[in-house]
Amino acid sequence: MLLRRFSRKAACRMFSSSATQAGSEGNRAMSASAAAQASHMAAKPIDITAQPVLTMKNLGEDVPIPSVKSFNPPIRLLCGPGPGNAHPRVYSAMSLPQVGHLDPYFLEMMEDIKSLLRYSFQTNNSFTIPVSGTGSAAMEACVANMIEPGDVFLIGCNGYFGKRLVDMGKRYGAVPVTMDRPWGQVFTYEEIKEAIEKHKPKVLALVHAETSTGACQPFDGVGELCRKHGVLLIADCVTSISGVPLYLDKWGVDAAYAGTQKALSCPPGVAPLSFSDRAMDKLMNRKTDVANWYLDMRMVASYIGSNTGGARSYHHTAPISMCYALREALEIVREEGLENRWKKHRDAAEMFWSGLQEMGLEPLVAYEHRLPTLTTIKVPQGIDPKQVTNFVLHKYGIEIGNGLGELSGKVWRVGLMGVNATPLIAMTVLSAMKDALRQQGYKC
Ligand SMILES: Cc1ncc(COP(=O)(O)O)c(C=O)c1O
Repeated sequence: MLLRRFSRKAACRMFSSSATQAGSEGNRAMSASAAAQASHMAAKPIDITAQPVLTMKNLGEDVPIPSVKSFNPPIRLLCGPGPGNAHPRVYSAMSLPQVGHLDPYFLEMMEDIKSLLRYSFQTNNSFTIPVSGTGSAAMEACVANMIEPGDVFLIGCNGYFGKRLVDMGKRYGAVPVTMDRPWGQVFTYEEIKEAIEKHKPKVLALVHAETSTGACQPFDGVGELCRKHGVLLIADCVTSISGVPLYLDKWGVDAAYAGTQKALSCPPGVAPLSFSDRAMDKLMNRKTDVANWYLDMRMVASYIGSNTGGARSYHHTAPISMCYALREALEIVREEGLENRWKKHRDAAEMFWSGLQEMGLEPLVAYEHRLPTLTTIKVPQGIDPKQVTNFVLHKYGIEIGNGLGELSGKVWRVGLMGVNATPLIAMTVLSAMKDALRQQGYKC
C-alpha cells in the first residue's frame, strides 16, 4: 500500500506538466509508462525527493498509439519454395541470451559457424562466413566484390535468379552477357565452354539450384574450364546447401552463396558465403573500391572473416540471435552427416514424384536434372493453379508455391526441404493437392 502510494506520487512529480497540459492519448500512455517505471524504481531504496523534476513541456507524440491485432501467427506446413519450417532446436537457439558481437564467446562461436559452413559447402576456403542479410545479400556480396566496372560477366539464364544476377551485374558496372536456355533446362558443358571461349568473361555465374524452375545445374568440369581461361566462377547454392550434393572445392567454385531458410531449416536473416583463394586475390587486388559499403568483404573480413587471432574491428553489428540459429542448424547437419542429409532429401523427393505420377501430374524438369529440394509441377489444362494453392493453405494450413516469372500460372512449386524432407510430409502434400484438384473436377 505504502509502496503503491509512493509510486503514484513519484510518477506525478516526474510527469506532472504533461499529464495536466496535454491530456492526449499519447501523453496518457506516457504517464502510464512513467508510472510503471516509477513502480519499478520504488522497488529500490532510493530517495525520490532527491531526483530532479522532469518536465514534458517540449515532448509529446504527434502520431497516436496505433491499434493492432493480437499476435498469434498460424501454424503452417511450409512446403513452398521457401522459407521452409525451421527446426525446433533452431527456434530454441534463437531464444538463448545474447552476448555482445565482439564478446570472446561470440567470436569463438563464429569460428565454429565458419568451420561448420565449410563442411556444408564441402570446402576448405578460409573465408567462409555468414553474411548479415538474406540470400540476396550474399548474392550481391559475390557480384559486388568479384566484379569491377567493365568486366565481362557471363551468366547462365535459365530462370528467375539468373536474371537477378544480370540485374545486379549491371548495377556494379559489369558488361553482362547471358547464356540462355528455356526455363527448366540446364546448360551442357559444351555450351558453357563455347560461351567462355566466345565472350572471354572475367566472371561466370551459374545457379546450381534454380528455385524458380526446379532444375539442378551440373558443375562437372566447369571449374577447370574457368581456371584454364582465367575466369572466376560464382555459384548460387541457395536451394542446394545441405539438401543436394554440393562440392565447392571439387568443382572449383570461387565464390558461392547460399540461403538458410531452405534445406538448412533455419529462418532467413543470415546467408552463407565462401570465397576461394583466387576470389580473395581478385578482391585484395581490385583497382576500384567495392561499390557497396555494407557488403565490402575486405572490411567484413577484418570483422568476422579473419581467424588468425588478430584484433577484430567493428564493421556492423552481427545479428547475434540469427547466428545462434545458423550455428544450431549447421550443428544438426553435422550430427546427421551430409550424405544422409542428401539421401533423405532424395528419398522424400522420389516418393513425391511417384505420387505425382499416380495422380497424372507431370514435373517440369527432366528426371536427370530435377532438384530433390524443389519440384515444379505442370498445371493441368483447365485447372486454376491459385485456387489449388489457396485451397491447401486454408483447408490444411499447407503452403505450396505458385509459379514465378515466366512460369507464373504454369507450375506449382513444392519444396520438401530440411525438416520437411520426409515421407510423411511428401504424402501429406500429395493428399492435400489431390483434394484441391478434385474440387475442380480433376480425376485423380
Ligand atoms: C536460387 C535463389 N537465389 C537467390 C535467392 C534470394 O534469396 P533471398 O530471398 O533469401 O534473398 C533465392 C530465394 O529464394 C533463391 O531461391
